[in-house]
Amino acid sequence: MNLTEEINKRRTFAIISHPDAGKTTLTEKLLLFGGAIQTAGAVKSNKITKTATSDFMEIEKQRGISVATSVMAFNYSGIKINLLDTPGHKDFAEDTYRTLTAVDSVVLVIDCVNGVEAQTEKLMAVCRMRNTPVIVFINKMDREGRDPFDLMDEIEEKLNIRVRPLSWPIGIGRTFQGVYNLHKKSLNLFEASKTKLAKDIITIDDLNNAELETQIGEEAAATLRENVELLDGVYDTFDTETYLSGEVAPVFFGSAFNNFGVQELLDTFITISPFPKSRTTDHRMVEPLEEKFSGFIFKIHANIDPRHRDRIAFLRICSGKFERNKFFHHVRLNKNIRFSNPTSFMAQDKSVVEEAFPGDVVGLYDSGNFKIGDTLTEGENIMFKGIPSFSPEIFKELVNKDPMKSKQLEKGIRQLTDEGVAQLFVKDPGNRKIVGTVGELQFEVIQYRLEHEYGASCFFQPLNYHKALWITSDNKAQLEMFLDKKSPYIVTDKDNNYVFLAESAWLLKLAIQDYPEIVFHTTSEFKTAVEV
Ligand code: G4P
Repeated sequence: MNLTEEINKRRTFAIISHPDAGKTTLTEKLLLFGGAIQTAGAVKSNKITKTATSDFMEIEKQRGISVATSVMAFNYSGIKINLLDTPGHKDFAEDTYRTLTAVDSVVLVIDCVNGVEAQTEKLMAVCRMRNTPVIVFINKMDREGRDPFDLMDEIEEKLNIRVRPLSWPIGIGRTFQGVYNLHKKSLNLFEASKTKLAKDIITIDDLNNAELETQIGEEAAATLRENVELLDGVYDTFDTETYLSGEVAPVFFGSAFNNFGVQELLDTFITISPFPKSRTTDHRMVEPLEEKFSGFIFKIHANIDPRHRDRIAFLRICSGKFERNKFFHHVRLNKNIRFSNPTSFMAQDKSVVEEAFPGDVVGLYDSGNFKIGDTLTEGENIMFKGIPSFSPEIFKELVNKDPMKSKQLEKGIRQLTDEGVAQLFVKDPGNRKIVGTVGELQFEVIQYRLEHEYGASCFFQPLNYHKALWITSDNKAQLEMFLDKKSPYIVTDKDNNYVFLAESAWLLKLAIQDYPEIVFHTTSEFKTAVEV
């Protein structure tokens, strides 16, 4: 197979959702369809359970298991699908944000009872920044959920994306009878079953056909006709281009638990979802079809079990062909490295790969060479963009408890933050270290790992910051003035960029007003400025 064929047959995506909406269940059903697993329940271990939220060791243990499910590759209808796992636990949201930089599209699962939830909004905001194509799956239609029209409005409003239902439910909860596929003009009737994979699909080209009454009864038939008429009036005809540009999200309804609507979703997914596309670097665009290999590290998984101190760096391949034992250029370190055991993942199994292609993700055993965002090439000095840091939500100062171990502490915190466990900001003078995370759990993880892996002991002093904003300006004088006046709130990030720590939304607003020529960015890649 040549490179074009390899690329065309690959789809790399992630499923995102608010915890409990059904991501794990849907993943499992997709893997069943792909033949990657044989029994239901096989992916459950991947999930960080609610009961474990206060016990991070337990969570780490579960995360350890989830290394194997970081990438779940499977084949379906001749397409190689790479499904990248995203941790559901909100404290690991940064992991998820970074994984989203390595996919070409996403499937968003929404619980029809709860609608759009907090975590969904955050994750979608990241997708919207990159115009990632999104397919929406409204799950749990077997439960008494919200009115589907209301759900459509809520998605458009809260997630800032237009929707186009491609199927429409007939009833909901106890009255749920199935869905009408608006695209294929077929009726898919619901039968609660966890194991059944194939169903009978009834084609009804003309909704006025009396067959509809026979199948779903008079009342439901009348409602469906009405709804479909309304839908055709409200929504534009589905156009794949608007989906690919991230403007319109096609919507499906179903019940992952009952394996209903999943095949429909998968069939549409492989038809419309994008194959690996070109990617931006600091110098130029890289096309997947380029002969020379390139890729970037988007995730590093460290094992905190001292008996297995291996780290796995996950590499997304962007162009050319990755080969085992071939020397590749590590751009940041300016050195050549080869990998003797690059690993591919196939649901629960992992194996050593000889070669991999754009869209694929391989795990590289690492002894500390990699940081999140590192680029590998065949010699060219380029760095992939689009792996920004986002403003953390919780800030604490790292305080050394043992002055004799300050070197160990320095090394440990640098390495842990390179792995992406948390963000490190440094405040001068004094080299004070401020650690920012999206969840409390990370502080426990850092404290534990610093002690057990680096022999350093520390504690965290809570700080009251609202947000971290990356600052730039074309007006040097104003920037100097700002840095001087606000010096108690100025820190630098891992790449020595200036960051302003705002104490409250109100103080941030004031700063924006007082310094009109300074741009306050919400991410480290400076794409998104704060608006007043
Ligand atoms: P998550 O990964 O997004 O966090 O969600 P997960 O798939 O674990 O699903 C959360 C709960 O919702 C699970 O129940 C799951 O069985 C249930 N669920 C998923 N899809 C459907 C559906 O289509 N209909 C209904 N009624 N429930 C669904 P649980 O009780 O928390 O776990 P379990 O005991 O079933 O494993």
